[in-house]
Amino acid sequence: MAKSHFEYVKHFEILDECLKNCWIVVRVDGKNFHKFSKQHKFAKPNDDNALTLMNESAKGVMGLFHDIIIAYGQSDEFSFVFRKQTKTYNRRASKLSSTVVSQFSSCYVYHWTKYFPSQKLLYPPSFDSRVVLYPSNQNMRDYLSWRQADCHINNLYNTCFWYLVHDGKTPTEAELELRGTTSADKNELLFSKFGTNYNDLPQLYRKGSVILRKKVTRSSMGKDYHIIHRLRFIVFRGIFLLASNCDSFRSVKRERNSMRGARMPITSSV
Ligand code: GTP
Ligand code: MG
Repeated sequence: MAKSHFEYVKHFEILDECLKNCWIVVRVDGKNFHKFSKQHKFAKPNDDNALTLMNESAKGVMGLFHDIIIAYGQSDEFSFVFRKQTKTYNRRASKLSSTVVSQFSSCYVYHWTKYFPSQKLLYPPSFDSRVVLYPSNQNMRDYLSWRQADCHINNLYNTCFWYLVHDGKTPTEAELELRGTTSADKNELLFSKFGTNYNDLPQLYRKGSVILRKKVTRSSMGKDYHIIHRLRFIVFRGIFLLASNCDSFRSVKRERNSMRGARMPITSSV
């Protein structure tokens, strides 16, 4: 078929293939969730249903992209790590980023009523997304540590802030009381004033969530009544045990290695 004389315009499209041999991270983040959480009456500072809905949406993304080996989430954000050698969408950044964020957003809306049965969704929420490449495993570990450190710092501050406000302080007074305090000061405040040991609060709040793929063996009865063992993967929700040395990244590597050689597709999530 003859080419139309309009065809030349396709060369204006920029091919944005991610550099080879790099970990590809797509991070999504809720747009203006300060307002969204207020309008939808999220519990402060942490809303279990909102966090679980984020995890559910992340599982929806992992169900679509089998090359995502780990996802880490906290607050209104989730990071998805594609394996270094992924060929998904020929590694095109715009395709990866846009499809991840689109799937995440639609899952968030799709599952909304399951987690907020009596709270109407007042308007369609949106999320931004970006692609970041990490060439070394150390960079990749440090990225995950950075996001988790962010979770810890924000959560410790917010926990103190809301304890003070619930105790009768105005937001301005609470802010003033916390200004210039160290982590140790904040831990001490929670313990001495409110009898709360910060480390006893749920890990979901303090450390965020991780989603990994896990290889499991399931038995089923074959036609000839022999037991068949099949390899399946499940996506599960867990708690990130990521310290500064990033132990969990090692466990990700273990998970990934254990997946080598398995041919069954990822089929289910829990
Ligand atoms: P942009 O991302 O720049 O659009 O702004 P944002 O308003 O989304 O702020 P940011 O992403 O920095 O922070 C996320 C905000 O979401 C927090 O500051 C909280 O206000 C809100 N948020 C996230 N999770 C929860 C939750 O579990 N409970 C409550 N109450 N608020 C939450
Ligand atoms: Mg946000």
